[in-house]
Amino acid sequence: MKKMEIKQLFTSYKDYVGKEIEIHGWIKKSRESKNIGFLEINDGTFFSNVQVVVESSVNNFKEVFSLGIYSAVKVKGILVEPESAKQDFEIQASEIEILSESDKDYPLQNKRHTFEFLRTMPSLRMRTNAFNAVFRVRSELAYAIHKFFNERGFVYIHTPIITASDAEGAGEMFRVTTFNPDKETPRTEDGHVDYTKDFFGAMSNLTVSGQLEVEGFAMAYSKVYTFGPTFRAEHSNTPRHAAEFWMIEPEIAFATLPDVMDLAEDMVKYIIRHVLDKLPEEMKLFDSFVEKGIIEKLNKLVESDFKRLTYTEAIEILEKADKKFEYPVSWGLDLQTEHERYLTEEVFHGPVFVTDYPKDIKSFYMKLNDDKKTVAAMDMLVPGVGELIGGSERENDIEKLLKQMEDKNIKSEDYKWYSDLRRYGGVSHGGYGLGFERMVMYMTGMKNIRDVLPYPRTVNSMKIDK
Ligand code: 4AD
Ligand code: MG
Repeated sequence: MKKMEIKQLFTSYKDYVGKEIEIHGWIKKSRESKNIGFLEINDGTFFSNVQVVVESSVNNFKEVFSLGIYSAVKVKGILVEPESAKQDFEIQASEIEILSESDKDYPLQNKRHTFEFLRTMPSLRMRTNAFNAVFRVRSELAYAIHKFFNERGFVYIHTPIITASDAEGAGEMFRVTTFNPDKETPRTEDGHVDYTKDFFGAMSNLTVSGQLEVEGFAMAYSKVYTFGPTFRAEHSNTPRHAAEFWMIEPEIAFATLPDVMDLAEDMVKYIIRHVLDKLPEEMKLFDSFVEKGIIEKLNKLVESDFKRLTYTEAIEILEKADKKFEYPVSWGLDLQTEHERYLTEEVFHGPVFVTDYPKDIKSFYMKLNDDKKTVAAMDMLVPGVGELIGGSERENDIEKLLKQMEDKNIKSEDYKWYSDLRRYGGVSHGGYGLGFERMVMYMTGMKNIRDVLPYPRTVNSMKIDK
């Protein structure tokens, strides 16, 4: 007799009707009445539990029904199609072996817990239906992203996690050093820490973005992407910011900003379609318990054209808005989450690209527009989440690039390897970064980034309360 996975049973139970099968799994629910008991078993391979019917004639009946929730068992029995039952099939147990007992104080008894409460149990919460569904969606989305780029001939580049450059020029980096802060560190003559004596011979950090490194590869392969962890020491304690998050950054050569937006729009639609198609059970759960109507919303989205407008147009809309914003709106100021959400949720009711932001609020590598005031940047904003994607066409004119570095106090000598790409066959190119967790939030309706990260790292999250 072969051990079967629960998923296999749900996809092809018809082939096993009347046959003896064996499953291994955890007890999710258990109830008993006089001569008969019911177990709901799952091994985590599929969303739904398998119902196991246990007659009191099974020799360890009493012991089985005294087991705590999440004890593990091996069940042998016949698969049957019950006439009047909710489920299509169940297993009539003939033998149950106890593989592992779960203590009676197991904290996740069968009742609904809040996501906040479950966050206090990072190693257990993925056993609940909602988190189980979230992390399966996360996995499927990651696969869909690779599939999308692979089908289009993109080369996947693993950009480094440790780097000496600050890709966003925002200085929100975690330092990587082997210097011991408890001991004296080598100093330069003027009293600064001497990083030339450190492990890498220069001040090094965890990457905030793989963009600069992947641009080099775009000049060799035309179509590339990186998908990896990124780190930002932002002190923003919001439901949308994490210190460690994953980012997908494609970069395309012989391309301008509209090409970059087309790619972003195609990708978002493709990956949403993929998950809707692959994980209907999980999506139904989100629709019922997390965000009503999410399936319909996403189905509509994949058929729609995303709105595109300039930052200047966005500011005009916001200035005319019949709404009081906490942060003021005026040309030159960065859009805050409340502005982004107003545009997507109350004006356009769907995703929008905002383009051509003022150069002073954007990064040094973005292409300066002819007006000399704005850059060829774009953000994709979506309802509920705000900024999902940030991208741009890159400055390919070396003089202009060096000028932007100078204006933004970036030491151009440190980025020679990057600016030199313009001197050796540099062509117009661009790309974007999709915040992976924000995509998972949008796909599931989850409202806090901490609930879509397997082990979230945010300000103070490692503190152990004693
Ligand atoms: O807009 P950002 O900062 O853009 C870049 O890093 C560019 N280098 C991307 C590129 O052009 N290749 O970040 C990109 C996206 C944001 O739109 C947001 O979705 C996400 O990354 N993001 C965060 N997600 C979670 N926590 C944070 N602290 C995030 N910061 C940015
Ligand atoms: Mg951004």
